Amino acid sequence: MSLLLNWSTWLGIPENYSDHGGNVDHLIDIVHWFMFALFVGWTLFFLFCLWKFRAKNNPKASYHGVTNHVSSHMEIGVVIIEAVLLLGFAFPLWWERTDQFAEVEKTDPVKVRVIAYQFAFNYHYPGADGKFGRIDRTLVNSAGDPCIDPNDVNGHDDFISGVLKLPVDRNAILQITSTDVIHNYSIVPMRIQQDAIPGRDIPMWFKPIKKLETFAICGQLCGEGHANMKGTMEVVSQKAYSAWAEEQSKAFLEKRQEADKAKALAKK
Ligand code: CUA
Repeated sequence: MSLLLNWSTWLGIPENYSDHGGNVDHLIDIVHWFMFALFVGWTLFFLFCLWKFRAKNNPKASYHGVTNHVSSHMEIGVVIIEAVLLLGFAFPLWWERTDQFAEVEKTDPVKVRVIAYQFAFNYHYPGADGKFGRIDRTLVNSAGDPCIDPNDVNGHDDFISGVLKLPVDRNAILQITSTDVIHNYSIVPMRIQQDAIPGRDIPMWFKPIKKLETFAICGQLCGEGHANMKGTMEVVSQKAYSAWAEEQSKAFLEKRQEADKAKALAKK
């Protein structure tokens, strides 16, 4: 019975894995119950009219039409329910996702830049120092380039990953951008998505509450490869995440130092 009552489950929406996702599913449930009530109500009204105003009982057309105000009152009722849905449910959810970054910053969130490009995603992590290198978009030299200024010391331990790895039970702030056209970064099990717009880093945040391996997908038609534009996302334990991030950061730092050494040698 509960399966029947949960529209979000019944409609085939994947299981929720984020802290706020339950509220999104709840809103989906309410909206669908409301639409179901409207569907049943209008269908019954339609059948009632077919029966009540059938030609056999009404040989002569009425030139006055309806004289009572029942339908107006019903319309007002629908408007009130819709206003409650918008102001009472949708706006608070939206506000929490878009206007709470100062609060989220205080909770030691994981920060990652997401660079969308035709047709994949790159992830830019701040590395061991927790600071992103300066971003200079004029330095772009390939699709999906995170555009880290090589002269900024904060960027020397930054690392790039082809998969999004996040620790469980910790807030994550993702900065979404693109190097070519407009994409949309969407993680359905996390109930979150954000447009990826060239030239801008737009934040979104959520908290994974269970470990999983899933896909992040592009939610905006962006070219012939759109349907294949998906990336792997893994939610792992905090310990596994720290070990992985540390290792990646070290490897990228060493690679950079070696490249610098080679450059210095070549100059001599
Ligand atoms: Cu990128 Cu669709």
